[in-house]
Amino acid sequence: MTKLALAWPVRDKSADRKGASAVRGRSDGKGRIVGRDLAMKFPAKAGPVVALDNLDIEIQPGEFLALLGPSGCGKSTLLNLIAGILKPTSGTISIDGAEVEGPNPGCGIVFQHHSLFPWMSVLENVAFGPRMLGHADPVGSARTFLSLVGLEKHAKAWPSSLSGGMQQRVGIARALATYPPVLLMDEPFGALDAQTRSIMQDELLKLWSQFKTTVVFVTHDIDEAIFLADRVVVMKTLPGGIKREVRIDLPRPRSPDIIKSDRFNTYRSEIFELIREETLKVFQSRD
Ligand SMILES: Nc1ncnc2c1ncn2[C@@H]1O[C@H](COP(=O)(O)OP(=O)(O)OP(=O)(O)O)[C@@H](O)[C@H]1O
Ligand SMILES: [Mg+2]
Repeated sequence: MTKLALAWPVRDKSADRKGASAVRGRSDGKGRIVGRDLAMKFPAKAGPVVALDNLDIEIQPGEFLALLGPSGCGKSTLLNLIAGILKPTSGTISIDGAEVEGPNPGCGIVFQHHSLFPWMSVLENVAFGPRMLGHADPVGSARTFLSLVGLEKHAKAWPSSLSGGMQQRVGIARALATYPPVLLMDEPFGALDAQTRSIMQDELLKLWSQFKTTVVFVTHDIDEAIFLADRVVVMKTLPGGIKREVRIDLPRPRSPDIIKSDRFNTYRSEIFELIREETLKVFQSRD
């Protein structure tokens, strides 16, 4: 039995099978996200800002989806709608058929800057979610997840004593420790140096191949999006919505060398052009 299967209250038997990393989605089939005709307007002094309009999206259980687009196009807004932190002005969003009506423990969230509780040890930060949900052994689960992100030796440390990359790893362990069907990540590696970032991407893919949670990953980095995702959604601006989806047909498991391949280059050029068109629109609208 894997460490993961021991840690989670709902044991994912498929994770025990040899070669299970190739299996798409969790054995309970959870993690389907469906957004229909979503719109989000924010009040502002100069008139309402239409952050999103007419947005339809469907994300399959276990899919790794990356959201790319110019600054202000509504990526974080969409993530917050899925998390139930924001309520859409119109339209609906559902996870596994249940409409999202408020913050939902079925979504783990990792932000750009860690949001660990500074007054709790690293171990207690990771144990917090399982404890709140009444799991049988929150500290045991926390230890398992810390070891999965390679930080078991830092269990007693305060978050402030860790480097930025280590803090983000604790954030990922904390988000996963409740076995959420959906993991939402908003530029989680944006503040890290290039080397640490590349290692974190690799580690995230290894973890994802075990936990099989649906991931919605926001980034500004085209290579990061292609390297990680099954599908890259490029958003348009003014108002935000989906401009184009690009399915990333690269074999898994992916090694960092894949970014040198011809196919990767083709995806990079295609997506670069799509984002450039949208970014130019933002600048033209300011003239
Ligand atoms: N609480 C709010 N009140 C008013 N306007 C908001 C609010 N939140 C977001 N907006 C506006 O909605 C639009 C989309 O914002 P959002 O943060 O989703 O963009 P983003 O794509 O995540 O940008 P970035 O890449 O810079 O993080 C922006 O024009 C922003 O100013
Ligand atoms: Mg954002």
